[in-house]
Amino acid sequence: MDIDYREMKIGDYSRVRRLWESEPGIGLSGADSEDNIRRFLAANDGTNFVAVSDERIVGSVLCGSDGRRGYLYHLIVAEEARRKGIGARLIELCLKGLSARGIDKCHLFVFETNELAIEYYRNADWRERDDLKIFSKSTR
Ligand SMILES: CC(C)(COP(=O)(O)OP(=O)(O)OC[C@H]1O[C@@H](n2cnc3c(N)ncnc32)[C@H](O)[C@@H]1OP(=O)(O)O)[C@@H](O)C(=O)NCCC(=O)NCCS
Repeated sequence: MDIDYREMKIGDYSRVRRLWESEPGIGLSGADSEDNIRRFLAANDGTNFVAVSDERIVGSVLCGSDGRRGYLYHLIVAEEARRKGIGARLIELCLKGLSARGIDKCHLFVFETNELAIEYYRNADWRERDDLKIFSKSTR
């Protein structure tokens, strides 16, 4: 399988969205609307990627920073393309992109029920935090 990696563009949205929707481990919300993703991509040039095989998007990742820390979201590889290093390469591209922008650490959030992803990030040497809780509040 030949894989090309390139930056995600808003024109990829509907195909990437379908990939997200195929996977219960990806938690989607209003934050993932096309307008919001357009804004996210525009604000985070150089850190969002898709993996393409035969013109088909087989993997994608969102990543951005607030100028201080990086945040990685919605890493996904199509089921038939897993275990070929695509996820690892997408993460590598994100971390390189962040590093080039002066960001030296990246965080990510995983549902406690997503055992596959938890195992994946553990194996990939992400440090599991047991000293933090996430708090959220609506702005309206
Ligand atoms: C997690 C995910 C992105 C991994 O993508 P991938 O392309 O298959 O991963 P890679 O091929 O890069 O894996 C690299 C290494 O990670 C480890 N790994 C991969 N999948 C794993 C799994 N399910 N459990 C444990 N370790 C795993 C292996 O060591 C693997 O190397 P190996 O194949 O040589 O043994 C993919 O399984 C996926 O899309 N899952 C569903 C979506 C999801 O839950 N995303 C995270 C939510 S934020």
